[in-house]
Amino acid sequence: MLLCLCFNQEKFTMMMMRAAVGLWVLSAVICVGRGHHHLGHGNDQAVQDTVADGSANSVSLVNEANKEFSFRLYRQLAAHADSQGQNIFFSPASVSAALAMLSVGAQGETHRQLFSGLGFNSSLLTQTDVDQVFQTLLQSANNTSQEDASEGTAVFVDNRFKPKPEFLQTLKQSYFADGFNVDFSQTTESADTINKYVEEKTNGKIDKLVEDLDPDTVMYLISYIYYKGKWATPFDPELTKQDDFNVDENTTVSVNMMNMEDDFYTYQDRVLNTTVLQLPFNSSYSMLLMLPDVMATLENAIDPNLVAKWLKAMSPRRHDVYIPKFSIKTSYNLNDVLSEMGMTDMFGGRANLRGISEEQGLAVSKVVHQATLDVDEAGATAAAATGIEISTRSGGLYSAPVLKFNRPFMVIITERNTEKILFLGKIINPTI
Ligand SMILES: *[C@@H]1O[C@H](CO)[C@@H](O)[C@H](O)[C@H]1NC(C)=O
Ligand SMILES: *[C@@H]1O[C@H](CO)[C@@H](O)[C@H](O)[C@H]1NC(C)=O
Ligand SMILES: *[C@@H]1O[C@H](CO)[C@@H](O)[C@H](O)[C@H]1NC(C)=O
Ligand SMILES: *[C@@H]1O[C@H](CO)[C@@H](O)[C@H](O)[C@H]1NC(C)=O
Ligand SMILES: *[C@@H]1O[C@H](CO)[C@@H](O)[C@H](O)[C@H]1NC(C)=O
Ligand SMILES: *[C@@H]1O[C@H](CO)[C@@H](O)[C@H](O)[C@H]1NC(C)=O
Repeated sequence: MLLCLCFNQEKFTMMMMRAAVGLWVLSAVICVGRGHHHLGHGNDQAVQDTVADGSANSVSLVNEANKEFSFRLYRQLAAHADSQGQNIFFSPASVSAALAMLSVGAQGETHRQLFSGLGFNSSLLTQTDVDQVFQTLLQSANNTSQEDASEGTAVFVDNRFKPKPEFLQTLKQSYFADGFNVDFSQTTESADTINKYVEEKTNGKIDKLVEDLDPDTVMYLISYIYYKGKWATPFDPELTKQDDFNVDENTTVSVNMMNMEDDFYTYQDRVLNTTVLQLPFNSSYSMLLMLPDVMATLENAIDPNLVAKWLKAMSPRRHDVYIPKFSIKTSYNLNDVLSEMGMTDMFGGRANLRGISEEQGLAVSKVVHQATLDVDEAGATAAAATGIEISTRSGGLYSAPVLKFNRPFMVIITERNTEKILFLGKIINPTI
């Protein structure tokens, strides 16, 4: 049997939505199918709920683990041969949510590897603790006062496959999974059903998440994350000009460079020789942009403590900021990367997914992740406001220091209260 875990993220086109600055949509798919390999001797023992700490403590343990996981996954992706010379962009929040869902159905060593790969300390956290925390996280991701962010999941089960009721119950209760029965032997129809669901959840933008279905598929898990933000202070499109972006010492590309002079929260990290800029959205979310002298220095050092330190130490200062408009798309097969992070057993004959079903041979066949990021000014409504800002502040002898993102930089989309990392990436070349 095989179980494949696929992620797919697709951007919204900006044409019809000039007011939006950035749009991110992500969907994840887990499919379980009948494969042919043999199960070795697995440890059938269910994970024992040993220590159940207070729930506030669990929340902070899972939050911390998720943040650490973001940067470990980043480094693993960045080191991968396929990533050389490429932009990197992905949603750690969505990857960890999908893997946490998978771990609901994992047992023995497979479960231990997932827990440890996600950074959950099994002497401090049980699967039940993790489920409860994700319940809270998913709920707050759908905070109705912030209509631009939503996360959700679904499970598609073949009519002839009977997952354990408690597995489905946990997905439904803690991960808010919508449940569907489908006939996976009808590969075209079932792919259509899944694609229609995703299309609806992403406002019609992701309409082909599933390309072709293995007729042996018995289950699909879907998770999506959607984010759309407007800058708190939009850029004035009138000020956007063609400019050079230095990809490396030998390569320069032409980009549309946005510009704004204003008070910005920045931090100069003198250890890493990196300038950090916070661009707040008109919500509790922010984009952090990190411009290092040497990318590798930043990439090797960045972790949740550094990000927390930057956010705390940032102060507003007048800057003349230049940021390219960009629109990037990434696609990953995460099998190697997750294996390298210690999550190996789920992929092969040693996989123990008996929390899903006692059927022999369930395994993950692939983990795929795609993401897109689209950044521009704020559109017509916002332009007027910016124009006023700039005209009132211009003039005089003082000239604000220039902060120009015209060489490779890193980017984080975070929620300011929880510091949850929705998206993480590195822009090497905004034109690819
Ligand atoms: C897990 O927590 C225990 C108890 O606090 C600690 O001793 C152990 O070092 C932790 N394990 C890891 C891998 O952090
Ligand atoms: C929802 O967002 C508002 C505004 O940022 C915040 O005050 C509130 O705590 C959030 N609620 C939850 C449940 O996260
Ligand atoms: C979030 O909102 C979407 C769209 O309204 C909904 O389909 C989804 O189930 C919600 N997710 C959670 C975790 O409540
Ligand atoms: C730039 O070109 C020089 C000379 O051809 C070469 O040695 C160097 O490796 C190139 N650098 C990059 C980053 O491609
Ligand atoms: C930061 O820049 C200074 C001055 O150019 C240099 O001496 C130092 O080695 C750099 N630090 C790192 C970590 O690259
Ligand atoms: C920011 O949000 C507030 C309240 O939701 C709204 O009144 C305001 O117009 C928004 N500003 C921009 C620039 O979108």
